[in-house]
Amino acid sequence: MIHFRHAIVRPPPASFAAGLTRADLGAPDLALARAQHARYCAALEQCGLALIRLPPDEAHPDSCFVEDTALLTGRGAILLRPGAPSRQGEVASIAAVLRERFDELPAITAPGTVDGGDVCQADGHFLIGLSARTNVDGARQLQDLLARQGFTSATIDLGDHADLLHLKSGLGWLGDGRIAAVAALAAHPALRAFEVIPVAPQESYAANCIRIGRHVILAAGHPGFAAAVRALGYSVLALDLSEFRKMDGALTCLSLRF
Ligand code: GLY
Repeated sequence: MIHFRHAIVRPPPASFAAGLTRADLGAPDLALARAQHARYCAALEQCGLALIRLPPDEAHPDSCFVEDTALLTGRGAILLRPGAPSRQGEVASIAAVLRERFDELPAITAPGTVDGGDVCQADGHFLIGLSARTNVDGARQLQDLLARQGFTSATIDLGDHADLLHLKSGLGWLGDGRIAAVAALAAHPALRAFEVIPVAPQESYAANCIRIGRHVILAAGHPGFAAAVRALGYSVLALDLSEFRKMDGALTCLSLRF
């Protein structure tokens, strides 16, 4: 989807530095992370979204990465089951918020696991990454639930790409049939139907971008990809995400858009 009206966001908790990370970039600065989160929220509002702001969840250090807990498809909501055990408790409070807005709330169940960061919606089609967080059982459950909503889907095995935590660590839907992708994913058969906008290796973090209306929000510091996006006619909003990157987080993980 590219036409959203709302986004659920949650700022990083005081326990943020205790979250999961494989990045070797040092400890995050909490005050700076919160300032970056505030600018992220402002960018979503600039794109016309009304924000549903949840309070910090101190019990869950990774809880600002709300995208991993649910999938909002435009035709309904699905509760996910994050692959990291320390994150599974994040789902309950998101479920409570979604229950107020969605009549049905099907859920991925054990032994399945799915992180929202592994799910990329491309109009009526979904790409689902099989990763250290999303297993085959979870992907199969999700494909069934998506089919009930009238969507098609395909899986992409990230097994050979251990550098990609999630599928959307390496690709992003730009709308208009276009998908931004790092070289490791660009030639995957599941992307054949799309126009692939390449993201250079030194700018791979920028592949995780968000298209909203005519805007594309992307991580600052990636001039080549920003220029490519502008050349396609989109307006670029570049945000500094340094503190979230330290915690293996990126743009899309910080909101649930619908
Ligand atoms: N720190 C985000 C994650 O690993 O899920």
